Amino acid sequence: METDFLVIGSGIAGLTFALKAAEFGEVAIITKKEEAESNTNYAQGGIAAVFGKNDTFDLHIQDTLNTGSGLSNEKAVRMMVKEGPRLVRELVDLGVTFTRERDTFDLWQEGGHSRNRIIHARDLTGREIENALISRVKENPRITTFENYLAIDLLVEEKRKSRCGGTLIFITSTGETESFYAKVTIIATGGIGQVYLHTTNPRIATGDGIAMAYRAGAQIANMEFVQFHPTSLFARKNQERSLLISEAVRGEGGILRTRKGTPFMEKYSEEGNLASRDIVARAIDSELKKWGDEYVHLDLTHLPARRIREQFPNIYKACLGYGIDITVEPIPVVPAAHYTCGGILTDLEGKTSIEGLYVAGEAACTGVHGANRLASNSLLEALVFAERAFKSSLKYIQKKIQDDKAGGLQDSISQFSHLQISASSNPLPDAIILSHLREEIRRLLWDYVGIVRSTPRLERAKREISAIQEEVEELLKTSATTSDLIELRNIATIAELIIQSSLTRKESRGLHYNTDYPDRDDRIWGRNTLLSRK
Ligand code: FAD
Ligand code: SIN
Repeated sequence: METDFLVIGSGIAGLTFALKAAEFGEVAIITKKEEAESNTNYAQGGIAAVFGKNDTFDLHIQDTLNTGSGLSNEKAVRMMVKEGPRLVRELVDLGVTFTRERDTFDLWQEGGHSRNRIIHARDLTGREIENALISRVKENPRITTFENYLAIDLLVEEKRKSRCGGTLIFITSTGETESFYAKVTIIATGGIGQVYLHTTNPRIATGDGIAMAYRAGAQIANMEFVQFHPTSLFARKNQERSLLISEAVRGEGGILRTRKGTPFMEKYSEEGNLASRDIVARAIDSELKKWGDEYVHLDLTHLPARRIREQFPNIYKACLGYGIDITVEPIPVVPAAHYTCGGILTDLEGKTSIEGLYVAGEAACTGVHGANRLASNSLLEALVFAERAFKSSLKYIQKKIQDDKAGGLQDSISQFSHLQISASSNPLPDAIILSHLREEIRRLLWDYVGIVRSTPRLERAKREISAIQEEVEELLKTSATTSDLIELRNIATIAELIIQSSLTRKESRGLHYNTDYPDRDDRIWGRNTLLSRK
């Protein structure tokens, strides 16, 4: 199989890239489940962009830099903030319907924002965007979407190991593997939430793109900065994905209280309930430990019931499904893994350290978020940097065609290889062992590499993950390939990267808090943590 632009992933980053690239060439989107299944589809709060009358680019830039705790790349932040409003208007032209207030967007408030600037479609912003983009993709004759195509490993040039020519795929419906060649490959595979026991992310979020890029030799940055959303619904049963209770709920006046009813956020921050996520998540963690409680309460009952139902129809309905009427009773909430600020290191044009390989969206580390992400900056970053990646990949293709008029893609195909995968004649791996190992990793990360870390716990996690990885490598050699096994390998790799980066950073900053190094140290640690496979 062969194409001009190969897009891995069908969330906001992949779909945005694909629609732009299709104006210039053939595009293939491969996606490992149904096309809409993505983190994008579950986004609630919205997109941060400067539309408010009393808002300015400088204020949005400053809020983003403050939240990033000294590690954001200011140039990247400026680009994102300034290019954002144009791309939000483009979304409207593509058919996205945002909630409006008279002749302008209705703007929500979220933690860390000094102004109301969250454009939203009630509390189902992600679904609205995903559906509109998918509709446009379906209408486009130059884009083909391959559902249930799971990227296993990148095809890299054998000699130099520094050029990407596509990816090896596993077709989940048939169990076959194939090579998909492309002039340009873009990783838009989203986040890593599933590496933790409690997460707001759906099952697809296993960090595949980051793990593949690491195996292929790309540079990976800042994996210690995992964002825990302070408020996901507490459920007694262990779930694959916890229901998010949007930060906009606190923006609208929701109050965090202990189970006894005492508000506690004022103790931790002047911003109270609207402090940035790292502060709120740690405050909840500390209250839970202090009182030995399993959850705290998020209380909206002082707000008019009609307003709650109108503003948050999805959250209201979903909570009713758990037997909680949020207009008359508080919501039991706990923090859950939500977002990775780290990822595949890229420049401001979405280029990775491997030629022909681009990245956008949550899988990328563009430098925007630094040590912590400002709420609702993720969809914005994905939009802006998907477009930038498209522009630079187009230049790359055009130059390649000029340089290589006679040869073209066909000639170079034989040069690409991937890491070995096991023979399909091997027996299927034992499903119980795979699910047990997956749970083991998720619990290990939750217990030892969570909101508050310590060096002995991280060391212990490192030892345990390395033993699990040995077991997974053995399974890869002796069993037939399955999607569960491929994801297990990726989850284990992501766990390794998070642990390694956390051990490397000997300070506390933003989302990374280590009790053995509780202070921020700008002299030594005001820089990215970089990892690459030797
Ligand atoms: P995704 O949307 O996650 O898409 C990744 C795609 O890659 C999927 O299609 C997936 O199936 C595919 N894929 C993955 N691995 C493979 C593979 N190996 N082979 C083939 N395909 C693969 N951010 C905001 O800015 N505002 C919000 O209000 C907001 N709310 C959120 C609420 C929730 C519950 C969650 C989970 C996240 C929220 N975020 C929000 C974060 C934001 O939604 C994501 O960061 C963003 O959508 C990521 O987009 P993406 O295109 O990079 O990845
Ligand atoms: C939310 O609605 O709280 C999620 C917003 C985000 O992750 O940016």
